[in-house]
Amino acid sequence: MDVFLFSFICCKLLFFLSESSFASDTITSSQSLSDGMTLVSKEGSFELGFFSPGSSKNRYLGIWYKNMPVKTVVWVANRINPINDSPGLLVVNQTGNLVLTSQDKSVVWSANLSKEVRTPVVLQLLDSGNLVLRGERDGGSETYLWQSFDYPSDTLLPGMKLGWDLKTGLERRITSWKSPDDPSPGNFIWAVERQDNPELIMRKGSRKFQRSGPWNGLQFSATPLRPNPIFNFGFVSNEDELYYTFDMRDKAAFSRIVMNQTLYLRQRFIWEKATQSWELYSNVPRDLCDTYALCGANGICIINDLPVCQCLQGFKPNSRGYVDWSQGCVRDKSLNYSRQDGFIKFTAMKLPDATLSWVSKSMNLNECREKCLDNSSCMAYTNSDIRGEGSGCAMWFGDLIDIRYFQDGGQDLYIRMSASELAKGVPRMKIVVTVISTAALLAVVIAAGYLVHKRRRNIVQNMDLELPLFELATIANATDNFSINNKLGEGGFGPVYKGMLVDGQEIAVKRLSKISEQGLKELKNEVILFSKLQHRNLVKLLGYCIQGEEKLLIYEFMPNKSLNSFIFGLGPYNLKIFG
Ligand SMILES: *[C@@H]1O[C@H](CO)[C@@H](O)[C@H](O)[C@H]1NC(C)=O
Ligand SMILES: *[C@@H]1O[C@H](CO)[C@@H](O)[C@H](O)[C@H]1NC(C)=O
Ligand SMILES: *[C@@H]1O[C@H](CO)[C@@H](O)[C@H](O)[C@H]1NC(C)=O
Ligand SMILES: *[C@@H]1O[C@H](CO)[C@@H](O)[C@H](O)[C@H]1NC(C)=O
Ligand SMILES: *[C@@H]1O[C@H](CO)[C@@H](O)[C@H](O)[C@H]1NC(C)=O
Repeated sequence: MDVFLFSFICCKLLFFLSESSFASDTITSSQSLSDGMTLVSKEGSFELGFFSPGSSKNRYLGIWYKNMPVKTVVWVANRINPINDSPGLLVVNQTGNLVLTSQDKSVVWSANLSKEVRTPVVLQLLDSGNLVLRGERDGGSETYLWQSFDYPSDTLLPGMKLGWDLKTGLERRITSWKSPDDPSPGNFIWAVERQDNPELIMRKGSRKFQRSGPWNGLQFSATPLRPNPIFNFGFVSNEDELYYTFDMRDKAAFSRIVMNQTLYLRQRFIWEKATQSWELYSNVPRDLCDTYALCGANGICIINDLPVCQCLQGFKPNSRGYVDWSQGCVRDKSLNYSRQDGFIKFTAMKLPDATLSWVSKSMNLNECREKCLDNSSCMAYTNSDIRGEGSGCAMWFGDLIDIRYFQDGGQDLYIRMSASELAKGVPRMKIVVTVISTAALLAVVIAAGYLVHKRRRNIVQNMDLELPLFELATIANATDNFSINNKLGEGGFGPVYKGMLVDGQEIAVKRLSKISEQGLKELKNEVILFSKLQHRNLVKLLGYCIQGEEKLLIYEFMPNKSLNSFIFGLGPYNLKIFG
């Protein structure tokens, strides 16, 4: 018996001493995890341990995917408090708390359990990537004393909840890292807005830059209606909880949503087993019209139309001279908000910012209309749930902000109009759908290329796009062959270089990334937009280049314009919004 116990203890000790082979998924109250040791989840998906991000020497406790060629960290414990002097130690202490200390025993981070736990506890790394603290006997249950999923870093994993536990007031939000070397919270935030008509909002600091639109029973109002082959998602909104979550259809597949550190982007990645790399699956914002309040109050964004910003029927631009869309639109004739008013139904809309909105799940559309008419600040209404015949009532008060039109998806919105406006009849929303297929664009490009060849000139006028086509050699020459010294920065669609043409003209060159399909679409949109919207305040688009794999946009270089206007901007308006 004693011999057995002795060898057991020896065995345990050896286990402890052999660095990095701590192939267990749990530690208990009597154990600790020091720098060099790791916990590995049962199926080997995730690993918990100490790491140094990027080129930093600081040590952090974190969770990453096991067995990936590049370490992808999904959670960091001591984000704001790195260990920099000595090896750290993670302990489950006597009162059941999870405590991270540096060598001098000072507490670097702790799980801050609200109450002392007397029963023996276990810390376990689950295959979902969740690090949980639970009672030793609560193996199967999903009630935890503490879990890392409640304190997200910059990554949302399948099964995590983005949003609120309304009973405890706990909020789970995603915040970008400051930089690749520093996991402390950066400026970019993704969170659930806790309001009558909740939605998901992305912010830089306190400033919104994208919103999901309210949940309509099936999905968020801003998501096109199409089945998703890769993951399921849901939004829970009841008295106890308010959150967004997703999970993978193929449980063995890896996917993560990350807030980018430097760009106005939330990105979803999927792990490709074949190439052993993360593939970018989607970017949000997806396009220009996803930009929060791009068209100002009562303006509507129509991605395939020109201009992309327009006023709702019955409204006119609220600015003199050149249309400044940030000023939005005002009513043609003021509305006296009486019961004589009526509503015009707009279809396929992204519903407006729901900060000043009110919801009733029990009212029907008629009751909703009546209530809106009676309320002297109600501007619009619609069903809050579009499933089946539609049900519930959502009303908006004051100006309508951040509306867009979708070709596929969106929903109905009934906007209040004066009797005289209604007399004019059905809405005549000018929706010119400029669908230029990739093939058509290529035809233009090939034709242009042919002209270049024929005339043996560097620049030719391309009648269709009304913009000069540059030869790759010209741009390569101007940017010192895209040298790193000429690089101004990296944007959502690729790097931006500074250059100089032979005639001395300074240029900024946006080199679209080789995700060819996306690149070509962006290029098309941008070329069309810019060629129609030349204006002295805008960064001037001089031309473009498509040759082989390369897709380039060439702008006039303006030293005092913000980098964002070259980088993020698809269109001109970002100058005002992000500048
Ligand atoms: C366990 O850690 C918590 C948090 O640092 C601390 O408040 C508590 O006193 C510790 N318990 C013991 C027995 O050291
Ligand atoms: C724990 O509580 C302390 C003091 O209230 C606070 O400074 C610290 O940020 C908290 N840690 C976590 C991980 O919430
Ligand atoms: C409001 O407008 C309606 C229709 O234009 C009109 O009949 C009504 O008298 C107006 N009410 C006020 C208070 O101006
Ligand atoms: C309009 O309705 C909202 C929500 O019910 C309410 O808070 C507000 O006081 C109403 N305003 C008026 C003028 O009736
Ligand atoms: C941010 O997005 C850009 C463009 O997709 C990408 O190159 C970069 O790696 C991203 N940064 C992070 C930290 O994911």
